[in-house]
Amino acid sequence: MTGNNLAIIVLAAGQGTRMKSRLPKVLHPIGGRPLVGHVLTTAVRLEADHIEVVVRHERDQVVAALREDYPQAVFIDQDDVPGTGRAVQVAVDALPADFDGDVLVLSGDCPLADADTLRSFLEAHRAADAAATLMTAVVDDPNGYGRVIRDADGGVDRIVEQKDASAEEASVREINAGMYAFRIGVLRQYLPAVGVDNAQGEMYLTDVPGMLRRDGSRVAASVVSDVTVTYGVNDRAQLAEVGRLLNARIVRRWQLDGVTVIDPSTTWIDDDATLAPDVTILPNTHILRATVIAEGAIVGPDTTLVDCEVGADAIVRRTDATLAVIGAEATVGPFSFLRPGTVLGARGKIGAYVETKNAEIGEGSKVPHLSYVGDATIGRGVNLGASTITANYDDVNKHRTVVEDEVHTGSHTTLVAPVRLGAGAKTGAGAVVRKDVPAGALAMSVAPQRNIEGWVEKNRAGTGAADAAARERSAE
Ligand code: UD1
Ligand code: CA
Repeated sequence: MTGNNLAIIVLAAGQGTRMKSRLPKVLHPIGGRPLVGHVLTTAVRLEADHIEVVVRHERDQVVAALREDYPQAVFIDQDDVPGTGRAVQVAVDALPADFDGDVLVLSGDCPLADADTLRSFLEAHRAADAAATLMTAVVDDPNGYGRVIRDADGGVDRIVEQKDASAEEASVREINAGMYAFRIGVLRQYLPAVGVDNAQGEMYLTDVPGMLRRDGSRVAASVVSDVTVTYGVNDRAQLAEVGRLLNARIVRRWQLDGVTVIDPSTTWIDDDATLAPDVTILPNTHILRATVIAEGAIVGPDTTLVDCEVGADAIVRRTDATLAVIGAEATVGPFSFLRPGTVLGARGKIGAYVETKNAEIGEGSKVPHLSYVGDATIGRGVNLGASTITANYDDVNKHRTVVEDEVHTGSHTTLVAPVRLGAGAKTGAGAVVRKDVPAGALAMSVAPQRNIEGWVEKNRAGTGAADAAARERSAE
């Protein structure tokens, strides 16, 4: 870390009662990561000397969800004293005694404040040489937020929490966004003096600005023009709304990078996904986790890709795929189900009503219709006939099927694994292949067909089938 006299404290100890959830609020995901993960991703971009996450409610679960992805973060346990003031106090106490810079306080439930917004916020705080700077916004509906009360000169006087506000104070539409910059000395001096004498019986961080003003210190406010950066998640309606705003931002970023997105409102792209220029995304498509899509590929409509790789100029429509690799110029769908470990070679095809799992399918090979291919290695130039399936499971173990280059199977072939089909081999329609097939051989396992003349008229007299057969036979 470069060190710029900055400590970031992320508040994530609250229960999030209004979510009515088993999952701690800050772990609810949007855009492929937990709410607090977005805040930490931004914190890391700001290159602070210290990043602290204050935890308490379900602390083990919260720590486990974040530790690996954010090794820079230090987790600080809040004690039984409730409130944002106490949360910041325990974090400040855990900073080195000689730390002498600014503290940026962020909330784990406000994921839309991006690094650029916070950088200019911090610059404004430093330029104003203020003891504290609040991020505020003027909103149509201030319900649920702390209100910013200004004095006669227009300076910040104090923050009043909604539950403690008079009717007149409650009518103020400038809200406290819950993001602050403080000089560390201010927090060390004032937090011990914050009480719990309020409607919620909590130590409010929001008391500090008023205390500073009464002592004649300067409190600045930075009013954001884009109010959405201040949006917090307290209930599930806000979770959906904030998720939608984040997605709109991600989609727009890719559009400006050269991706065609036909319908942004039904296209969901996780923050970790990567799309190349000239990719086209058709409606109702979810590009999730670390999915990577190469130039010229067309994905959708009605497609979900989770941790997939899609090659250049591939076409993937009406498909559900997880941990699958789709080669360049390959085609997948409609109605295909690609499970983990599917690797489709360049110019290959996985067609309608096909399920694959742990299957390598070589260059130019086709599985066009109604198949299950699991635990298989399929060579190049192979064509698996309609409804060819690998019987990979014997009720105890899974076994592999190996199909070498240029094999063509007949419709409805059952490959009973473990089994190997040598290069260029063929199978007859309906074959049940239990033994290896040598290169170039034709495997047949179905008994020769026997026609029993007159069976229908004799055994099904009076049916439409019997009548039709009788008519045709008398016409002959
Ligand atoms: C807080 C502010 C309010 C502001 C709003 C902006 C206070 C007293 N009020 O209200 O002025 O308008 O944010 O979104 O600060 N947390 C802890 N420990 C606690 C309590 C909360 O870490 O003991 C964390 C929560 O996990 C959450 C954040 O602090 O991430 C804010 O807490 P929350 O209860 O959501 O505060 P608000 O009521 O939204
Ligand atoms: Ca909140």
